[in-house]
Amino acid sequence: MSPGHEQNHNRPSQPSRLLAVLSGQVIAPPPIWLMRQAGRYLPEYREVRARAGSFLDLCYSPELASEVTLQPIRRFDLDAAILFADILIVPHALGQELRFSEGEGPLLEPITTLADLDRLDSSAVDMRFRLIFETVAQVRSALSPEKALIGFCGAPWTVATYMVAGRGSPDQAAARRLAYRDPAFMRALIDLLCETSITYLSGQIAAGADVVQVFDSWAGTLADDQFFEWVIAPTRRIVQELKRRHPQVPIIGFPRGAGALAGRYIEETGVDGISCDTAHPLADMRDRLAPLATVQGNLDPLLLAEGGPRLGERVDEILGALAGKPHVFNLGHGIVPDTPPEHVDELVRLVRQSRC
Ligand code: CP3
Repeated sequence: MSPGHEQNHNRPSQPSRLLAVLSGQVIAPPPIWLMRQAGRYLPEYREVRARAGSFLDLCYSPELASEVTLQPIRRFDLDAAILFADILIVPHALGQELRFSEGEGPLLEPITTLADLDRLDSSAVDMRFRLIFETVAQVRSALSPEKALIGFCGAPWTVATYMVAGRGSPDQAAARRLAYRDPAFMRALIDLLCETSITYLSGQIAAGADVVQVFDSWAGTLADDQFFEWVIAPTRRIVQELKRRHPQVPIIGFPRGAGALAGRYIEETGVDGISCDTAHPLADMRDRLAPLATVQGNLDPLLLAEGGPRLGERVDEILGALAGKPHVFNLGHGIVPDTPPEHVDELVRLVRQSRC
């Protein structure tokens, strides 16, 4: 990314509702966006996805990736777009083989030793990142100024779990065991991911991302000592460096499953916002977390998929619990593929109409 690039994009002159809330303001009703708001539940996504060929081709096509980033914004009255890409772009750009298989999710060539790490051919990283930054720039220039653009990466721990196991698993046992067996390897892998994630997020910001979110989907699998070492310390390093380079850009952390450690995660990493999973109690979000950071979440994506009267009741419960606090309405995890798009319309209407 050229240093002059930052002046070229269309950064909003009016702070968006999302940026206002992330700076600590209270807005009623709160801004809303949804994790995985672009994806297979939208017929227009499936059409572009089929045209792209593979999922990775879609991620690396600035034209098609910006189109699918904008699809949910055209269809629903959301406050923010999130860059369309994947957390596994980082290992792929670093040279790890990756494919997405239908029904099985991501498959990578596992990396479990320092020799495997040394063998990675990262000569394409700049070229691959540049395609993602180009998507960010295209989306920012197409998006109206009151809508925020969210960039993202996977947190080092979560990305490492896929790199080590070569696939997703329910408990991330392969990476947890390797962290005990060979902490020097895990340290080297996490260090590489910290440095690469800083470059990646910084490039997204330079290209026009207004906010960034760090997805640590597998944070909740760790013992507390391991949580400090592999979740909090690397995230703090990323946050500190991004704050040094881009002090005005808010950072949201999503340490899924952090539970009782969520407060220390906020205090010790320095994130501006925390995205809470569905199991996180609303009362704890209000009483313990909201004084420390803007809180986001935690509607159950399965309730959104089901819809019906319970959806409206739960929206009111969430809005009621967090009234008077800086709050971003969101799900506790990503939209599931069989969610009827009309339920998303209904959700946005419920949040916008609320009197909380
Ligand atoms: O939120 C958005 O709309 C932005 C795009 C986005 C995707 N993945 C697109 C995607 C984001 C932010 C992600 C993050 C991501 N990717 C995470 C962290 C959040 C979470 O869900 O826990 C993780 C763990 C991944 C890794 C990943 N990517 C898996 C496990 C899978 C397979 C499961 C699945 O849903 O297919 C993917 C593929 C993927 N990433 C798809 C999309 C739209 C589906 C691919 C397709 O269209 O065939």
